[in-house]
Amino acid sequence: MKTLLAASATLVALSLPAFAAGDAAKGEKEFNKCKACHMIASDSETIVKGGKTGPNLYGVIGRAAGSVEDFKYSDGLAAKGADGLVWDEAELAAYVKDPSEYLGSRSKMTFKLAKGAEDVAAYLATFSQ
Ligand code: HEC
Repeated sequence: MKTLLAASATLVALSLPAFAAGDAAKGEKEFNKCKACHMIASDSETIVKGGKTGPNLYGVIGRAAGSVEDFKYSDGLAAKGADGLVWDEAELAAYVKDPSEYLGSRSKMTFKLAKGAEDVAAYLATFSQ
């Protein structure tokens, strides 16, 4: 019995994702730092008014990187998209912590989010299917 319990505990530990999911409510506040450059707008409504320096982040989780039409991405980000990167919460959080380091080349996004990247990622995921 003990062995069985130990075995299933190991299984549970193995199946836990390495990435700790963020808190969407905290992320909503954190997004105040993003909206100088990013809006969140669907075809029918503007959810968060924001700048146009960066691409619209509506539906970004589950979207191919660098895929907003008419937005001029850096070569590095465009290349990630061409390589098949689709944003999920873990990748997005890693990117916003240090965009240029993440891309391995200079990103047009000059902003770095030191803390709360997982929370912002969870918030953005609420605008995706
Ligand atoms: C100073 C302006 C600025 C701020 C502030 C900013 N961004 Fe960006 N962001 C950009 C630009 C410009 C790009 C395009 C980057 C490139 O092409 O290398 C970008 C790209 C992105 C992308 C990639 C989107 C895609 O379509 O592939 C994500 C995700 C993103 N930003 C999230 C955030 C989040 C979350 C925040 C707030 C924590 C934030 N950004 C703050 C300017 C900004």
